[in-house]
This record gives sequence, structure tokens and C-alpha cells, in this order.
Amino acid sequence: MPWEFASNLEVLKSSTMSCKTLVCLLFLLLLKLAVSTSDDDLTFNGFSGANLTLDGIASITSNGLLMLTNKTKQMKGHGFHPSPLHFRKPPDGKIFSFSTTFVFAILSEYVGLSGHGIVFLVSPTTDLSNALPSQYLGLFNSNNNGNSTNHVFAVELDTILSSEFKDIDDNHVGIDINSLKSNSSHTAGYYADDTGSFKNLTLISGQPMQVWVDYDGRVMQLNVTMAPIRMSKPRRPLLSSTIDLSSVLVDPMYVGFSSSTGSVLTSHYVLGWSFKMNGIAQAIDYSKLPSLPRIKPKARSKALDISLPLASAAFVLMVVGAAMFLVRRRTKYAELLEDWEQEYGPHRFSYKDLFRATKGFKDKELLGIGGFGRVYKGVLPTSKMEVAVKRVSHESRQGMREFVAEIVSIGNLRHRNLVQLLGYCRRKGELLLVYDYMPNGSLDRFLYDQEKTTLDWNQRFRVIKGVASGLLYLHEDWEKVVIHRDIKASNILLDNEMNGRLGDFGLARLYDHGTDPQTTHIVGTMGYLAPELARTGKATTITDVFAFGAFILEVACGKRPIEVNAEREHIVLVDWVLENWRRGTIRETRDPRLGEDYVVEEMELVLKLGLLCSHPLPAARPTMRQVMQYLDGDAPLPELSPTCMSFSSMAMVQNEGFDDYIMSYPSSVYPSSTLSGGR
Ligand SMILES: *[C@@H]1O[C@H](CO)[C@@H](O)[C@H](O)[C@H]1NC(C)=O
Ligand SMILES: *[C@@H]1O[C@H](CO)[C@@H](O)[C@H](O)[C@H]1NC(C)=O
Ligand SMILES: *[C@@H]1O[C@H](CO)[C@@H](O)[C@H](O)[C@H]1NC(C)=O
Ligand SMILES: *[C@@H]1O[C@H](CO)[C@@H](O)[C@H](O)[C@H]1NC(C)=O
Ligand SMILES: *[C@@H]1O[C@H](CO)[C@@H](O)[C@H](O)[C@H]1NC(C)=O
Ligand SMILES: *[C@@H]1O[C@H](CO)[C@@H](O)[C@H](O)[C@H]1NC(C)=O
Repeated sequence: MPWEFASNLEVLKSSTMSCKTLVCLLFLLLLKLAVSTSDDDLTFNGFSGANLTLDGIASITSNGLLMLTNKTKQMKGHGFHPSPLHFRKPPDGKIFSFSTTFVFAILSEYVGLSGHGIVFLVSPTTDLSNALPSQYLGLFNSNNNGNSTNHVFAVELDTILSSEFKDIDDNHVGIDINSLKSNSSHTAGYYADDTGSFKNLTLISGQPMQVWVDYDGRVMQLNVTMAPIRMSKPRRPLLSSTIDLSSVLVDPMYVGFSSSTGSVLTSHYVLGWSFKMNGIAQAIDYSKLPSLPRIKPKARSKALDISLPLASAAFVLMVVGAAMFLVRRRTKYAELLEDWEQEYGPHRFSYKDLFRATKGFKDKELLGIGGFGRVYKGVLPTSKMEVAVKRVSHESRQGMREFVAEIVSIGNLRHRNLVQLLGYCRRKGELLLVYDYMPNGSLDRFLYDQEKTTLDWNQRFRVIKGVASGLLYLHEDWEKVVIHRDIKASNILLDNEMNGRLGDFGLARLYDHGTDPQTTHIVGTMGYLAPELARTGKATTITDVFAFGAFILEVACGKRPIEVNAEREHIVLVDWVLENWRRGTIRETRDPRLGEDYVVEEMELVLKLGLLCSHPLPAARPTMRQVMQYLDGDAPLPELSPTCMSFSSMAMVQNEGFDDYIMSYPSSVYPSSTLSGGR
């Protein structure tokens, strides 16, 4: 209900009945104007007062935006028309033609970074509670993705390249049938009517854009078209496919939107929407659309200050008629270098060298895409040394000085279980970090999606001990305490001797600097986040220990911390291992690919230690020094029994469950003597 009406009604409460009724009538009339719906012809020019079925973190803002996600991380949101529609013509059951159009916008806190996207979907159910956020877009989970029993048709606007779903890039539109692996997809954009040439659109630009989805049931043709808002619908569709929806759509079906966030704070909005069965969806009335929240312009950055003089210098050069070539070269390789960076000279790489090393950041050299940016392989021009170059987009200069000081000091860290940071380079809006190249890539590739195990138990146990020792060094053995904040298998890299090395440490801090201390930005990954971290946003060495616990269970069991089983239930690894321990079958939780080839004592130690580290109560977790002693056999693991650890981590995957979770397990459940046993 719009604000003004709510308050008007309040004020009028005490006045006469007739006046109140009048206002109510007026209100209903206005509502009728804004939202006109019949069974199969929906039009929403803004969603004020709209009757939608919302779940997850979706809501309708006071000015009428359908806000599917609101900057919270690792979350999903859905908005459906509340009553289902009939897509089939009786008696033969042929699929009707339909048409829909909507205006959306994706607003991200950081320029050039986002997650994850918006989906228009036609679904047999509005209950998507088992779907996962992040790359699953709130549609499916790791178990049901691709299953034809889903009966879901969707058009995705995807802003992240998920290689597991064979995404073409990190800015695409795709047609999805029962699966996140799109049946057909195209880089976001449109074909201009006049020239016929393709124009890119950037989904995460924050600008409102319009999408049209048209299906012709007779010839089974599906067209998807997009354009900037207020432009007429381009004649040539972006995607045009022949798709038989008769095996996909059941009767009846719900229509609506889904969205999810990953590790970058992003808001996904739908401004207006219309849908029509057997006809052309009504045009959106742009003048009635609610406005998007204004993003506070970031404090004018030093980057701008520096590039401006550079630009005017370039201008003078041009006027004087100096070689254009030089100017172009200068901008191509332009860097940001400020006085305070002098002392970091030895740690500074030139952009030109990095550009050459990575062959101009060619896609062919791309090693992977992480939470913070793309990583490229490179060979330094003079030394011929192999390096990995991470490009982190970063607009704000606030805190940059502090951050560079920190990464340079981190560059001084030397430990055989840390990926060596060699240095950095700064450009406008971008930070480049140069690391030692790790030829064997990341650990998760060895744990998942492999038919046969490529890491035996000895190797796994060595990786676990190595990572523990690297983390202990960060926590206790260096002059400053470094909190890693994002320990997980994909952040562990393997060197040429298959030693586990921690990567990406300290990087999470980048997004903490220069931001409002009132807003906590939780960096981390679902399943590895300690409950108190999700609650308070404060990362500590003990929240690292929690993630380390999830990580070693991951290595021993060959399973992700949160998976979904055949019954579409979330399986939290910690709970499952604990349950097996209680039943006396803890060893059965080991990665089945290991067979009988493992050391029983080590396996049990790792599994129990994983549980202890992942204890929901921070005080019950050991320090990394203790962890190291347990792993080295220098101290016995404290006497634990599965019942004293009886807790359920299920709440972790439920949206706002953290507080309930702590409250429903009062500390009296844990006799403090058992808790302190590990300390
Ligand atoms: C996002 O949604 C959650 C859950 O509804 C709410 O608690 C939070 O205040 C919202 N945040 C913003 C920025 O709107
Ligand atoms: C919303 O729509 C549903 C389904 O059509 C209906 O049952 C419900 O009463 C409606 N709610 C309101 C507030 O109109
Ligand atoms: C698809 O889902 C059905 C029912 O949920 C299940 O029985 C079947 O095993 C699934 N198929 C695959 C390939 O996952
Ligand atoms: C469009 O995208 C392609 C591929 O990413 C890129 O090479 C090209 O420069 C982009 N064009 C515009 C106008 O942004
Ligand atoms: C899809 O696009 C093609 C090419 O513009 C057009 O001929 C066809 O009528 C369109 N189909 C639908 C269902 O809009
Ligand atoms: C989507 O693509 C898959 C694989 O290419 C194919 O098996 C399936 O039939 C397609 N679905 C439709 C409805 O065209």
C-alpha cells in the first residue's frame, strides 16, 4: 500500500465514517488504474498494491518497485502472479501462444561487479524453497538442475559466467528449459533496426532495460528481444528458437520472476510487467513506472582527479599536433601512481608488462573467475616467469592507500602453503594483483566432477595439514593477524608438488575499506560462514576456523558443505557427518572414490576435527594452533561425543535463521566442561 494512503487513512480514522469510505473508494479506484489484471492478461506499470506471491527476500518497495533482492548476499527472491494460468487449449492440449514484456534494472554496489541475475519464469509451482541462490538463480539446485520433471521454462538475464552451466559470458540472455544450461543464449544487446548491427547492453549498468518474450504456439517459435527502456521493440529478436513447450509446460502454470545474489551486494528490480495469453502483451506505460533508488554518487575518487589532468595533457598534446600514436599508447597503458606509492616501488608492476604477459588479457589466458575478478595466466616479458594476474575492479579510492600497504605487507609473507603475492599495479577503477602461478589449479577441480579420484588419501591429508599450517601462520605466526575470510576448496591452489596453498587472503578486506562502518559486508561463501559472522558481520580468526572445519569435511567426504539430495532436501555436510557419527558409521561419510585406500585413524581425526571446528558456538572451536597439534598427533583430540555436539546447521541455509538458531540452542545445552574440553 502506498505510503501516502496509509498515512491519510490513519489521519482520517477519527473523522466521519462517510469520509473514510470515500477515501477508501478513491484508493481502490487508483489501485484499479495502476494494476489492471484479468486471468490471462496482466499489466503492472509499477507494482504498488499489486497482489503478488512473494517469497525469499522479495518485496514491493513503497514506491512500487518489485525488489527481488535487496543487496543481501547469497539470497534469493521470487515474485509470482498469485493465480496460475492455463497454457493449454482443451481438448487437444496444444500450447497457446503467449507474450510478455517487462522492464528491469540491476543495481550493484561496485562498478563492474555483480551477482547473479534475473529470470522470467513459467513454473508449475511457486514453491522454490529448495532452489539455491548464486549461480542457481533461485530456480534449481545441484540435484534437480536439468531434470525434465522440473517443467520450468525460463528466460535468464545472467551476469556471471558459470562454467559449470556452459555460460557463454558474464552478460548474457538465455532460454532455459528445466536447466541452467541454456538451450540457447546470446550476449545481452539488440540488433539496431536501421543498420542491423549488434549493440551490446550491459545488464549490470544500473540502467532500466526492457525484455520481450514471445511464443508462437503454432510454429513453436520463441523470440527473446531486449532494448534500452523507451526504445521501440527491435524488429530482429536477440534469440529466436524453435522450442516445443508441450513436454515442458503442465497445466496450469505460474508466471513470475526469480532472482538471486552471490557474493557481491546486488539489488534486482522489476519496474513494470505485462503478460498476455493468445495476444500481444500490453505496452508498458513508461510514464507510470516507479523510479529506481538513487545510488549515492560515490565520493569523487582520486582516480578521477588523476585521470583528468592526464586527459587534459592529452588534449594539449593533440592541439600541438604531437603524434596521436603516443597518446593512444599512453591511455592504453595508463596507470595510477601516486606519491605515497613510491616506497612500494619494488612491488609495483607496470601495466604494460602485465598487458604483454597476458597477451592483452586474452580470453585464452583466462584461468578462472573468482568472487573478486578474473584471473589470467601470464609470462612476464623479461624474466619469463609464469604468473597469475588477478584483475579486481575497484572504483573507490577510499582506503586504497591502506589497502595497498596491506597487500604489500602481505606480499612479504613467505610460507610454503600460501600463494605468493608478487606485487600489484593500479589503473583507473582497477587493481591488478600478481601471484605465483600454480600449475595444478584449484583443489575443487580434483574433488568434484571427476569420474575417478585424482587425489589419494595421503595427498588429501597433506593438503589439509598444509592449509592448516598456512592458516596458523596467518593467524599467529606473523607480526599482524591476517584473517583469510574465504577458506574453501576453490581458494586452495595446488603447486607442482600438489601442496595445498591458500590463495586470495586479505583480498576480502578490499571491500571493507572506505565503506560505511554501519553496514556490514559479509564476505564469504554459503556453507562456510560461521553463524556469528552472518549475524555480526565481524570476521575473526575463529570464523576462519569454522570455514576451515567445513573445508576439511569437504576434502574428506568429497562433498560440498551444502548439497541437495534426491528428495530435494538440503543436506548440510556437518549435520550428515554428525548423524553418521551418532550411528557409529562416521567412516561411511568418506569420499566413496577413496574406496578402502585410507588411514582409518587419520580419517576419523579429520572428520571429528571438522565437526569440532564447525561448532556453532565460537568458544567451542579450537584455535589453529590446537588444530595443528591434533593433526600432527602432538595432542589428542579432546574427548567428544556426538551427543554433546548435537546441533543442527540447517538454519544456516534458511534465510534469516541465524538468530533463531542461536536462541533455540541455549548454551545450557552444552555443559561448559565439554565445551572447554577443546581449549
Ligand atoms: C532486505 O530484506 C531483509 C529481509 O526482508 C530486511 O531485513 C532488510 O532490512 C532489507 N534490506 C534493505 C536494504 O532493504
Ligand atoms: C491475491 O490473489 C489470490 C489468488 O488470486 C487471492 O486468493 C487473494 O485473495 C488475493 N489477495 C488480495 C489481498 O487481493
Ligand atoms: C528427476 O527427478 C525425479 C523426481 O524428482 C527423480 O525420480 C529422478 O531420479 C530425477 N532424475 C535425475 C536424472 O536426476
Ligand atoms: C561488445 O562486447 C564485445 C564482447 O565482449 C566487446 O568486444 C565489444 O567491445 C563490446 N562493444 C561495445 C560497444 O561495448
Ligand atoms: C520471431 O522473430 C521472427 C523474425 O523477426 C518473426 O518473423 C517471427 O514472427 C517472430 N515470432 C514471434 C512469435 O514473435
Ligand atoms: C534443449 O536442449 C537440450 C539439449 O540440447 C535438448 O535435449 C532439449 O530437447 C532442448 N529442449 C527443447 C524444449 O528444445
